[in-house]
Amino acid sequence: MEVSVRVNLEEAARERIEELKRLVEHHRFCYYVLDKPEITDADFDVIYHELEDLEKKHPQLLTADSPTQKVGAKPSTDFKEVKHRIPLLSLANAMGSEDLIHWQERIDRGLADDDDPAFAPGASGALAYQYMCEHKIDGLSVALTYENGAFKQGATRGNGEVGEDVTLNLKTIGTLPAKLKPVAVLADGTLTGLDAAKKQGLVEGKDFQEKVLRHVEVRGEVYMPVSSFTSLNEALLEEGEQQFANPRNAASGSLRQKDPAKTARRRLGFWAYFLYVLDDGVKQPTLHSENLNLLAAMGFPVEPNGKIAHSLAEVQKFVDDWFLPRHSLDYQTDGVVIKIDQRKIWDKLGNTSHSPRWAIAYKYPPEEAETQVEAINFEVGRTGAVTPVAFLKPVKLAGTTVKRATLHNADQIKRLDVRINDWVVVRKAGEIIPEVLAVKFEKRTEGSEPFVYPTHCPACQSELVRLKDEVVLRCLNIYGCPAQRLRRLIHYVGREAMDIDGVGEKQIEQFVKSGLVTTPADFYRLTEDQLLALERMGKKSAQNILTAINNSKTRPLAALIFALGIRHVGVSIAELLAGRFPSIDALMAATAEEISAIEGVGPVISDTVLEYFAQSENRELIEDLRSLGVKLEQDAAEAAQTFAPTLAGKTFVITGSLTRLERLEAEKAIKARGGKATGSVSKKTDYVVVGESPGSKLAKAQELGIKIIDETEFLALLEIEA
Ligand code: IVH
Repeated sequence: MEVSVRVNLEEAARERIEELKRLVEHHRFCYYVLDKPEITDADFDVIYHELEDLEKKHPQLLTADSPTQKVGAKPSTDFKEVKHRIPLLSLANAMGSEDLIHWQERIDRGLADDDDPAFAPGASGALAYQYMCEHKIDGLSVALTYENGAFKQGATRGNGEVGEDVTLNLKTIGTLPAKLKPVAVLADGTLTGLDAAKKQGLVEGKDFQEKVLRHVEVRGEVYMPVSSFTSLNEALLEEGEQQFANPRNAASGSLRQKDPAKTARRRLGFWAYFLYVLDDGVKQPTLHSENLNLLAAMGFPVEPNGKIAHSLAEVQKFVDDWFLPRHSLDYQTDGVVIKIDQRKIWDKLGNTSHSPRWAIAYKYPPEEAETQVEAINFEVGRTGAVTPVAFLKPVKLAGTTVKRATLHNADQIKRLDVRINDWVVVRKAGEIIPEVLAVKFEKRTEGSEPFVYPTHCPACQSELVRLKDEVVLRCLNIYGCPAQRLRRLIHYVGREAMDIDGVGEKQIEQFVKSGLVTTPADFYRLTEDQLLALERMGKKSAQNILTAINNSKTRPLAALIFALGIRHVGVSIAELLAGRFPSIDALMAATAEEISAIEGVGPVISDTVLEYFAQSENRELIEDLRSLGVKLEQDAAEAAQTFAPTLAGKTFVITGSLTRLERLEAEKAIKARGGKATGSVSKKTDYVVVGESPGSKLAKAQELGIKIIDETEFLALLEIEA
């Protein structure tokens, strides 16, 4: 009897474990590979921990292929695989001060049996080590390789052993150094920063040698600044595309773009946090904190708020001190990483299969709050996308007072069954945009009615439609809808558009209300007297506004094209259009074929561009802008980057390294002339450009009989002087 109960229990556990494994794998795939998580991190943790617990209780059911035995998820197959020289591990989590104490006890036990006096506690029981506290940046970790001082390769973590080669995309991160600054090698081989050596009064040639390190590996976090994340999501919403759940997914999605130009537009950031020097005959500093200084001296961005702590109490103080202020940083943090500062102890303690024993991640609790829904309103965006917003009884959350939360779309309202007056749980998705997570049904008042989604635009009453493949509802009354007009005016003055400083949403609302501005051209007709007649407008601000408006007349053509707010024409598409057509007139005269022939611009975009200029309102706007003195053609800087489409329809593959151009520059040059640069040779390839030490692509090209050219011939095709 007893035996059969046990067998049944084990059978039930086995089934549940199998189900949990599938779930964990699925959600990891959604999260890591598709960048589209279907559940929150907290919900993921629940199933993950259930799996871990069951496996602990039934060790005989634990298999090597269980997701609890692997870090992260399988790398996507779109990028070349890179085997990491040193595996990229994960970190154990601490959820509170008790976990920190247990961590320290484990460390002390690990060091206790050692004969090395360096690891023994000090005479008064003082620790033999100190801690380095760093913000836990919510991005994705990458491993970078530098050879002879130059950036060679960068890879994502992938499964910890094998990651994806994202070198080209990493090169677009402006703060990631392409070349390393030289460092000082002291007499005993120890490395330090050049400035640090000089500050100590050491003399080059005598006390230290200057050296560019030959082989360096750096680890760090790629992140998306909060400011970029917010504007990216706004743009995605307008385009009717799925938004990113949080800056980390956005960073990961951006770093794994097939087109590096797209990554470049996303303006990612990087913080370095590990250095491994592989050169012979030199010694890295013994403290991790000193290695961070060395990283900074070599030109890497290092997060500036890290701090050394001498006790767990000091660690806890760092954690507590940053709990709220972290929200004012332009990068999202979800905790604090605490590392033993003495690297010698790293070697002594080693790693578990998952994570180093000498570091731990203190995770801040997810920030959620309960409040009541006062109203559900609908906001109409620039391109007519209508999104539901819950207006809430104000509640404190993650350092700010939250009054509104997004409900995303009709499907989400239905799924949550959220109603007016409901008590709801709100959470900052990625701690930035508050969203309604769930309804507290037990608190629902009797007689509440399911929310009925509107069928008509709240601003202009025209019927809402759902376009094919889109999740949002749209108001198609593009020119008549006052809400769309307002959003378009706001878009026009934006930083990446006409960059009219001092004119924001509030001012534009004022201008519109008083009848001064209806179309963007009206900005240029504003007078000082008109502005002074507005409420709360002083002479100085009126003058500043007029100057900013006047200055916008000479914005680059790309900015103007973007400012028009044509559907699907974001900043990068606007740049492509301005690079191909020297003026608005040329763009207006272009055919669909000419537009969609631009690499990176497809028929969807050429259609919306043609559609835009087919509207008489828009052509009138252009004429209006022209007569008011707004520049409608390329300036000298833009013209210098414009090329005739001499390589239109031609596909290039580059193999080996070129001497005159960096790979990325060469690809840019091909694209600027209308050609295409791809990564692998096929029958469709027109030219294979062969540089120094070419790879297997050369043989493939010979096999397929594809035209092979050297760098000189390539430069001639580009019409660049060799
Ligand atoms: S140390 C073994 N330092 O957190 C090494 N990681 O939960 C772990 N992270 O995979 C890396 N900021 O993506 C380290 N200052 C920091 C970090 C940091 C963010 C991320 C990293 C890592 C994850 C572990």
